[in-house]
Amino acid sequence: MKSLLDSLNNRFEKALISAFGDGVVAKNGSKESLVVPASNPSFGDFQCNSSLALSKELKQSPRQIADKILEHLDISDICETPTIAGPGFINLSLKSDFIAKALEQVKSDSRLGVPKAAKPKNVVIDMSSPNIAKQMHVGHLRSTIIGESISRVIEFLGHKVLRVNHVGDWGTQFGMLITYLAEVCPEALTTADHIDIGDLVTFYKQAKVRFDEDEDFKTRSRQAVVKLQSGDAGSLHAWKLLCDQSRREFQEIYDILNIENLIERGESFYNPMLEQVVEDLTKAGLLTEDQGALCVFLDEFKGKDGKIQPCIVRKTDGGFNYATTDLAALRYRVTHDKADQMIYVIDVGQSEHLKQVFTVARKAGFVPPEVEVVHVPFGLVLGDDGKKLKTRSGETVRLKELLDEAVLKARADIESRIDAEGRTETEQFKEEVSTAVGIGAVKYADLSQNRITNYMFSYDKMLALQGNTAPYMMYAYVRVQGISRKGGIDFLKLGSDAHIVLKEDAEVVLAKHLLQLDEVLESVATEGMPNRLCQYLFELSQKFNVFYDNCPVLNAEEPTRTSRLILCDITARTIKLGLNLLGISVLERM
Ligand code: ARG
Repeated sequence: MKSLLDSLNNRFEKALISAFGDGVVAKNGSKESLVVPASNPSFGDFQCNSSLALSKELKQSPRQIADKILEHLDISDICETPTIAGPGFINLSLKSDFIAKALEQVKSDSRLGVPKAAKPKNVVIDMSSPNIAKQMHVGHLRSTIIGESISRVIEFLGHKVLRVNHVGDWGTQFGMLITYLAEVCPEALTTADHIDIGDLVTFYKQAKVRFDEDEDFKTRSRQAVVKLQSGDAGSLHAWKLLCDQSRREFQEIYDILNIENLIERGESFYNPMLEQVVEDLTKAGLLTEDQGALCVFLDEFKGKDGKIQPCIVRKTDGGFNYATTDLAALRYRVTHDKADQMIYVIDVGQSEHLKQVFTVARKAGFVPPEVEVVHVPFGLVLGDDGKKLKTRSGETVRLKELLDEAVLKARADIESRIDAEGRTETEQFKEEVSTAVGIGAVKYADLSQNRITNYMFSYDKMLALQGNTAPYMMYAYVRVQGISRKGGIDFLKLGSDAHIVLKEDAEVVLAKHLLQLDEVLESVATEGMPNRLCQYLFELSQKFNVFYDNCPVLNAEEPTRTSRLILCDITARTIKLGLNLLGISVLERM
């Protein structure tokens, strides 16, 4: 209904001009939208509060102004007669004829009324980004799930999305690991498939312990990093084996989550560009030497204590940093990927780091002003004790186990439901349903939260059939499919000339909600908040259920019957599309 809001605004603008001359609009209308969605549904669908703002300038009471606006306003084709409320608010309610017509257009549109962007942008999304030789953890899971959903929405709106996996594949961890493996398992450095990732993570931990307590080991590790980074063939071979090992493990998770088109460009990818980055920062006059390290000091980086936190781009030992790599990546994404927008889906703990690299990249001219760079931060995943999610023994939760567990629990739920209903279902059916529900539930539980706050991981909550959960949404979809099965209805054959007639409240409420999809998707894309879409779908399912409980569909007389079938169909298609944009698949039966 975004275009609807635009046309209402136009009509109000015209009314204002003809009532008070165009000076008024130029001052007021350019800043804010004259018409906004109603703050409370009991006021109607939209409202215009401008009479209050204009009162001072026009030296008239808001009510007088509102009266004059209405005298000059022509919206009878869209709205019922407007009313003035309180000191001078103008309330608008859509005509049900108008809603019906608008929805008829949605019905015959495979995009459900959501327009494609007139000017497609190139959007680079930095997401997932686990670290080689370490366990992929719930933070990476969140980045993957949120990043994927934002990618899908932006793509659907007609833009070109490049999903980039900024894997941590180049840092001090390899020095430690190679040095340690050379002692305890040298074959792993030369022969493929010698160790699996579980062992690798264990080795990594042991290596870290050694690194922290053994000076000599530390020195040798540092030398090993330098050797690797300077291109030593043996080191590179070992490094590649270790990366392959981790990569296979990550891929398993991506397969379960159905993540495609994620391009791996690890930190190592930018290695050849780092010298140049430092050189260009020097040329731009941004670098200061501090105890042998090269740093950018900017007032913007002042901490709470008033001290400037430097952005270090070259360490005392000559090595480059996480920040240097990110600067190279920012520039590469502008020059090579022609990014118009870059979105970083990274935990909130890295906000300062990102603020630094974004600022430095701007100042150095790596990112021109017209290119937008945004951090989409997210909070922690907590266990039911309110602390960072851990296994009972205090270890990082393995994602594979976490996802498998969700599917197992979904399976138990489904089996007990099938038994209770006395149904018999095939093994294949049970497996399909429990996978879709289990994985869908994990994704939805994450996406439905305001991502900035921490969220508590609970299998029971996410798998519940009631409430703001994936199964609830999936079930609403199944319900509609049930109607079509029961009535032998093929929604595709309802006829392009079939009409919508809205009489009952529940029908009107549902219809209006269906018309808001474009607005919601637009806001998910601009604010990077998939929870908006979840909330929209949740309310849609609720409104549909009220409609379904109050309005007979298959037993209604024509033309009501067809009209209601169309409402059912559009609802189902909206849920299917919406869930798909969240990365969740629907089932025809469950
Ligand atoms: N590998 C990093 C981590 O696990 C995340 C990288 C995020 N992306 C970036 N461009 N810095 O914390």
